[in-house]
Amino acid sequence: MQLITNCSFLENELLDAARLFKNRPQTITHSYSEKGGVFYNTFDIDGETFSFEDRGQVLNELDYKRLERRFAKLRLYEILSQKYGEKMPWGALTGIRPTKLAYTELERGKAFIPLFEQMHVCQENIALVQTVLQTQKGLYEKRDGNTDLFVSLPFCPTKCAYCSFITAPIEKTRHFLDEYVTCLEKEILSANDYIGNLRSMYIGGGTPFALDTPYLQKVLAALAPIKEKYNPQVEYTVEAGRPDVFSEDKLRLLKEYGVTRICINPQTFSDETLRLIGRKHTVADFYRAYEMSEKYDFLVNIDLIAGLEGESAEQFANGVTQAIQTGADNITVHCLSLKSGAKLKEETSYIENDRISDMVGLSRKLLLESGYLPYYMYRQKYQAGNNENVGWTKPNKACIYNIDVMEETADNLAVGANAISKRVKTAQGLITRFATQKDIPTYMSNIDSIIEKKRKFFTE
Ligand SMILES: C[S@@+](CC[C@H](N)C(=O)[O-])C[C@H]1O[C@@H](n2cnc3c(N)ncnc32)[C@H](O)[C@@H]1O
Ligand code: SF4
Repeated sequence: MQLITNCSFLENELLDAARLFKNRPQTITHSYSEKGGVFYNTFDIDGETFSFEDRGQVLNELDYKRLERRFAKLRLYEILSQKYGEKMPWGALTGIRPTKLAYTELERGKAFIPLFEQMHVCQENIALVQTVLQTQKGLYEKRDGNTDLFVSLPFCPTKCAYCSFITAPIEKTRHFLDEYVTCLEKEILSANDYIGNLRSMYIGGGTPFALDTPYLQKVLAALAPIKEKYNPQVEYTVEAGRPDVFSEDKLRLLKEYGVTRICINPQTFSDETLRLIGRKHTVADFYRAYEMSEKYDFLVNIDLIAGLEGESAEQFANGVTQAIQTGADNITVHCLSLKSGAKLKEETSYIENDRISDMVGLSRKLLLESGYLPYYMYRQKYQAGNNENVGWTKPNKACIYNIDVMEETADNLAVGANAISKRVKTAQGLITRFATQKDIPTYMSNIDSIIEKKRKFFTE
């Protein structure tokens, strides 16, 4: 597909809107202009011309830019939706988190539903956003200085076929661990001087439990003074991860250091699918890990993926039911998203939108009926069926870290390789980012300058 536009800054928006559709015109020619608060968009597609004039309330430069993008994308979406007879669950919304958009409208003293309806978001998704906002009441907090701390452990037992996260196979990288953990200790020690209002701590991956117990202990011990100093009762998650690396001594260690929440991720309840996605564990391993964890009384999160190879909607729904039956506090339903770097992306293109949409529909129904509430959600590029990832929670068990990260309401002080720190300046409406090197040896060899730059980033 070729897009010709007189307006280069609308190019990505228009491409995103066009890419929502399986069928696309060969060439889209677009022109844009604005005069006196009226936004003019014209499209030439397959010999037909479509012209639009839109008006919107412009209070400042930011509004102006927002409306330019919104109208161009919306109008192209409408043309293509009509032409190909296809509607998307999130309509013309692309590139923005729906809940963030809803909060932005509310902050401007407006209801968000009219905007979502204008963008052709389906009623079920509007209701989903409403419920997420409701569940976040009392937890959503936009205040400068609120901080979440993230520790990156990008190591895994093996690479799963669908995954594009940058992680290193533990067997090949064990020799890095001494130095890597020393770098983390240094970063954490430095951060101890300048953390704001600590809302949560999160050790994520990769697979943190891929580390041998002594290394895990070093990381937990380095974090202990921060927890003590800033918030002894802090919500503290370890994304322990894959059931095949669970052990009693690791779980005991987490309890000793005050961890409150862990992730035990089956992804699917089918051994055949687990084999196909190269996860190297079984459903029985998941139950073993779950039972092993029970006596430590952590809040537990379970990750599932909709759209894995060969699974029918019924099979997936069966997995959701099994996840619910475990009694997990949080269940996160991801929709398969194949990005470059994932082995499956290179091998297949088997995702059918209808199948995934059925899975999403069934998971919502089953979780709602069982008393779970959606508490955060986000969409990704290349997400199967243009759907979304939703975190579900039992009442009053929601994870603050996930809410803060998805709504971008708090600073994220992230340490380790490929860690992306964020600073949120509410008054200016600004979010700035500081990313460390993805490659572990490069990260380690730059550690001193990273520490200095990060200190500046958070204190200036
Ligand atoms: C950073 S991973 C860490 C979890 C841990 N390593 C594990 O696999 O159990 C977080 C979650 O992202 C989800 N995920 C990873 N790759 C995905 C993909 N390509 N599409 C959808 N979800 C994905 C999985 O559900 C995974 O549990
Ligand atoms: S899904 Fe988890 S275990 Fe699998 S490769 Fe990705 S981060 Fe590692």
